[in-house]
Amino acid sequence: MRYDRCSRTQNFVILIVGGIVLAMIVILNFGSQFAHLIARRVRDIGVHSEILPHNATVAQIKKLNPSGIILSGGPDSVNTSGSPRASIGIYKLGIPILGICYGQQVMVHQNRGKVTKAETHEYGKETIQVKCNNKLFKGCNSKEVVWFSHGDNVTRLPKGFKSIANTSGCNNAAIENVQKHLYGVQFHPEVTHTVHGKKIISNFVLDICKAPKDWQISSLRDTTISHLREQIGKDEHVLVGLSGGVDSLVTATLLREAIGERAHAVLIDTGLLRKNEANEVKEELQKIGLDWLKVHSSSAIFMNKLKNVKDPEKKRKIIGHTFIKEFEKYVNKRLKRHNIVYLAQGTIYPDRIESAEPSKNTAKIKSHHNLSLPEKMHLKVVEPIRDLYKDEVRKLGRSLGLPKELLDRHPFPGPGLAIRILGNVTKQRVKTLQDADAIYMEELRTSGEYDKIWQAFAALLPVKCVGVMGDARTYEDMITLRAVDSVDAMTADWHDMPRVLLSKISTRIINEVRGVNRVVYDITQKPPGTIEYE
Ligand code: XMP
Repeated sequence: MRYDRCSRTQNFVILIVGGIVLAMIVILNFGSQFAHLIARRVRDIGVHSEILPHNATVAQIKKLNPSGIILSGGPDSVNTSGSPRASIGIYKLGIPILGICYGQQVMVHQNRGKVTKAETHEYGKETIQVKCNNKLFKGCNSKEVVWFSHGDNVTRLPKGFKSIANTSGCNNAAIENVQKHLYGVQFHPEVTHTVHGKKIISNFVLDICKAPKDWQISSLRDTTISHLREQIGKDEHVLVGLSGGVDSLVTATLLREAIGERAHAVLIDTGLLRKNEANEVKEELQKIGLDWLKVHSSSAIFMNKLKNVKDPEKKRKIIGHTFIKEFEKYVNKRLKRHNIVYLAQGTIYPDRIESAEPSKNTAKIKSHHNLSLPEKMHLKVVEPIRDLYKDEVRKLGRSLGLPKELLDRHPFPGPGLAIRILGNVTKQRVKTLQDADAIYMEELRTSGEYDKIWQAFAALLPVKCVGVMGDARTYEDMITLRAVDSVDAMTADWHDMPRVLLSKISTRIINEVRGVNRVVYDITQKPPGTIEYE
């Protein structure tokens, strides 16, 4: 497959491969926690998807040439003044649209139907009665288990619409206007509790929108490499910043493939990495013949900048800016003779989404370190995997020949242990956490539990507590152990860790790590928690 060009509209990208524009489904985000799940489901079907703010203009949407549009759910009621709307022109584009929950209600409201407060709210699993012969439920049963979460109901359909499914409390559980290619569902097909949700989304994407399945990781490898060659030119060099995680490693490997020795990979040792992390990554790479990684130690600088900084967002910004300064310093010191024009970063799709403010209805969760860039920067940024989810990055890494040991390492955040040390970051606290975390990782690996977990780590809490060791009172630090199961970090559940293993880890940490007298295991899901603590 040959990559031709890549056209950017705002921050979004149309991929053109072999002269053909890759199909795309646009998701307009009305502030739903599930917008990402919709995007995932569409990609899992084999079609590219992009999330845009709900008020993206018709011109912005048209530039992406989407095969279909999905309106996500959201926390508002369409009857509340100031609640979000889509640009009215989208309903006249002739592009198929599927409204989900709030998305259905907004479609109805904007097309002169009526939405009212439901007498009984429906939350959780319900069975809908499906009317036969409609495209959206093709291949589904006449009774389907779906997942609802709504307080409003569509009570009058706009002209040209008809109901295609109902429950006892909701006449318009699904609706269609075939002539105008407009569809709506009151439930959430994107969550796994909706038994045939994937089928319903696939019916919309493949049958109604007629989007070809052209989103494949294997072809993406070649397109990305060709695109990088084109973007970077023949003489320019690129500095690739490695953080010790999978994303930046895949980014570096893509760049080496694309421009060879003109890609210079440097791992900034912030002093906030896991115990021996910098050396381990270097050794693993050397083992497979990749000896291009250089380690630049700047721990004193990072520690100094973080002195007395407790606020999580401040920590993230300081680290993001210090990274850039250190990269620039490295270029001036070690790579002066090269024409370094670009800085490549391993930013992935969820980083962009969580750092962005998609609309005033959706909160910014946290500023990912590589998106907290200083305004004045000498290097231009390249982000070759900015459209991918984590599991897609791993698949891409596999297609690049990177070994399992490196790819299947748990994700590690750029700001490192600074966002796992709640409160002040000091040299002593870094050491305490590194020692506790190393024991935790060692036990997970030797027991075989590591590979069953999506991400695990220890964090240091900003409280001291009372204990007793020997016959003496202690007043020392508390370590929390986190381990989550997830697919792409957008949602996560706590890992059901064997009790015996937890007990062994806790005993070892308390016996072997100076200054720690208590260990707790975190049983919070995401949402409402996040995976990291800050
Ligand atoms: P949260 O805490 O948002 O984390 O649930 C989701 C995933 O993102 C990782 N993470 C980061 N990765 N830079 C990164 O490279 C960051 O600033 C950052 N913050 C969170 C986190 O480890 C988890 O895998």
